[in-house]
Amino acid sequence: MAKVVVTGKIPAGGLARLKAEHDVTAWESDDAISRTELLAMVAGADAIVSLLTEKIDGELLDAAGPQLKSVSNVAVGYNNIDVPACENRGVLVTNTPGVLTEATADIAISLILMATRRLGEGERVIRAQEPWQWGMFYMLGMGLQGRQLGIVGMGQIGIATARRAKAFGMNIAYTRRTPLEDHVIEELDAKFMTMDELIESSDVLSLHCPYSPATHHLMSENQFARMKKTAFLINTARGPIVDEAALVTALKSGEIAGAGLDVFENEPAVHPGLLELDNAVLIPHLGSATVETRAAMADIAATNALAILAGSQAPNLVTS
Ligand code: DGY
Repeated sequence: MAKVVVTGKIPAGGLARLKAEHDVTAWESDDAISRTELLAMVAGADAIVSLLTEKIDGELLDAAGPQLKSVSNVAVGYNNIDVPACENRGVLVTNTPGVLTEATADIAISLILMATRRLGEGERVIRAQEPWQWGMFYMLGMGLQGRQLGIVGMGQIGIATARRAKAFGMNIAYTRRTPLEDHVIEELDAKFMTMDELIESSDVLSLHCPYSPATHHLMSENQFARMKKTAFLINTARGPIVDEAALVTALKSGEIAGAGLDVFENEPAVHPGLLELDNAVLIPHLGSATVETRAAMADIAATNALAILAGSQAPNLVTS
């Protein structure tokens, strides 16, 4: 039996599969584990199953010890893990691609609708019992029909978001590092653009790229200045891809029309400037938050960890 440390609460199915084969120590509280408790908990672990809220770096790997074989993140994004530090110590890293594609695309499209149709703003009026009545020019938004959705990072989630947007009559443009498969281009009638072209021509710009030093503040002052004044920014990827202070300025000054954010630069903190803005829709990192998706994520993470501990070919390996 190997020692498996699970750093936060995960759905029962994945946890049970780990427990059936190994000696599992799992953090059971709803509160996130503190760094001190985490460093103590991982000592002697052969495998760590981590949540995106836990930083897995050299210090933690050293605290775990040289017997550590794997870190299995219960997330598709793995910017919380120092992958080169793992590679240097021979520790394999895995993630959970595929299973949260549709749930996250649902949230992206929800944010697009909420931001362009001012739904958060409208709901706040009702809840605050402010006076209102139907009016020809009351709380008008932007229609999606014929508008361009620019997808930054046309991977699985970007494609799933584009499919939904296409059903709303949007035109799809995208940027990505490698060529997109022909059948996807045909299905979506998707047009490749450089990042600059995409920023300048999109009515809605939706971020779906991974976070890395290369994408840190990919959207900042210069980029907002080049967007259409009527355009919206949507982020369901990772907060630090957007320079939040610059976004607040752009939203306040009318450089862009609005934003829909599921992720934040310093989660769970949110830039105070965003809280004051009616043209920002803010939701608490709910991209994968369905019962089914979270169960599937825990199940895949368990499969990944169990395969590595069994010495099999590990599925869903990531590299730096
Ligand atoms: C992920 O898996 O990276 C998501 O952000 C979790 O919601």
